Amino acid sequence: MTAWLLDPEVLHLNHGSFGATPAGVLDAQQAIRTRMEANPTRFFLEGEYQERLDDTRRAVAQFVGADPAGLVFVTNATTGVNSVLRSLEPSLSPGDEILVTDHEYNACANAAVVSASRAGAVVTTAAVPFPLGDRSEVVDAVLSAVTERTRILLIDAVTSATGLVMPVDELVARLEPDVRVLVDAAHAPGMIDFDVTALGASYVTANCHKWMCSAKGAAFLWVRPDRRDGMHHAVVSHGYNGGWPSEGGHLHAQFDWTGTHDPAAWLTIADALAAVEAMHPEGWPGVKAAIRELCLTGRDVLIEALGIEPPAPADMIGAIASVPLPPAGNAGSAIFDPLMAALRDRHRIEVPVFTWPVPPDRVLRISAHLYNRSDDYELLAKALTTELAD
Ligand SMILES: Cc1ncc(COP(=O)(O)O)c(C=O)c1O
Repeated sequence: MTAWLLDPEVLHLNHGSFGATPAGVLDAQQAIRTRMEANPTRFFLEGEYQERLDDTRRAVAQFVGADPAGLVFVTNATTGVNSVLRSLEPSLSPGDEILVTDHEYNACANAAVVSASRAGAVVTTAAVPFPLGDRSEVVDAVLSAVTERTRILLIDAVTSATGLVMPVDELVARLEPDVRVLVDAAHAPGMIDFDVTALGASYVTANCHKWMCSAKGAAFLWVRPDRRDGMHHAVVSHGYNGGWPSEGGHLHAQFDWTGTHDPAAWLTIADALAAVEAMHPEGWPGVKAAIRELCLTGRDVLIEALGIEPPAPADMIGAIASVPLPPAGNAGSAIFDPLMAALRDRHRIEVPVFTWPVPPDRVLRISAHLYNRSDDYELLAKALTTELAD
């Protein structure tokens, strides 16, 4: 059995969007489903679900350096961000500011806009350059956008379109506790060294289905002890008034049950952590180092093919990296650039091309995981050069 189910006829250079899950983890997910379907009432109401969930919580908390009491599961980082912002709404006053950067993931920036509008607050945006020379440019851009009305900064640990490892540690140190920081770490755990407690932000949400390689629909939210009161899931369910009994307290009660759903992706996160760890002789530290090196090698190949300078310093790169492309002649659409389709259809390469910052300018983003090889990026560079010459 091969470790991954990825179609061998296609070059997969887009781990960053949806991850990929080892076959053994999907088998474990199916085994949980089979167990659940044998007696759903027993599974959900007689302790098995809660026991398995608490075991998973301990495993994830250990992996990211969090205390289990503050860690809850959500379906994805989008839900984590929405839950934090919704919980904050009652404490916002008209004119208060939610600060984001212009590299913010669109779905989460939208959540900020809606929460702000409900509260009469406003979203302000720090303009972070790309290409950029070093991390201080990010710190300066964000800090200069902070005002006395800024209540929360929503910032990505690793940006989506531009693939930058952001200096969230420094920003948290400069802003907390006066300005709350919500770290959208969708890409961070499993890609870069990431310790939730040491970071010290008010809130951290992250996907498990990206670099931790769990089945899809698995993510977590961690809330700092002093922010746990008043924290609710975006979906209000039994736990709000104690209708879902929990030894883990009100936070767990509200997130552990948000209505009937298939929890098998959550309950096999520990299987994913073990499966990926076993793929490298040095375990997770080896995995993270290997995929970063692969990504930097791939970026070098593209930079040379395009004849450009590195658009960001190497210390801001994890296992995804973006390179600016010549402007699109046909302007493309905001989400699907024709070049992306051409690389897929003519060269069987899955790699995203994003509009950046506005049409017709765009970037191409590579990802690296253990199923990738440095040759993959040579093939991409060749295909890209062909398409750009057409
Ligand atoms: C920075 C960032 N935040 C949030 C998300 C959303 O992830 P999900 O679709 O799993 O909610 C992504 C997805 O790529 C992302 O890159």
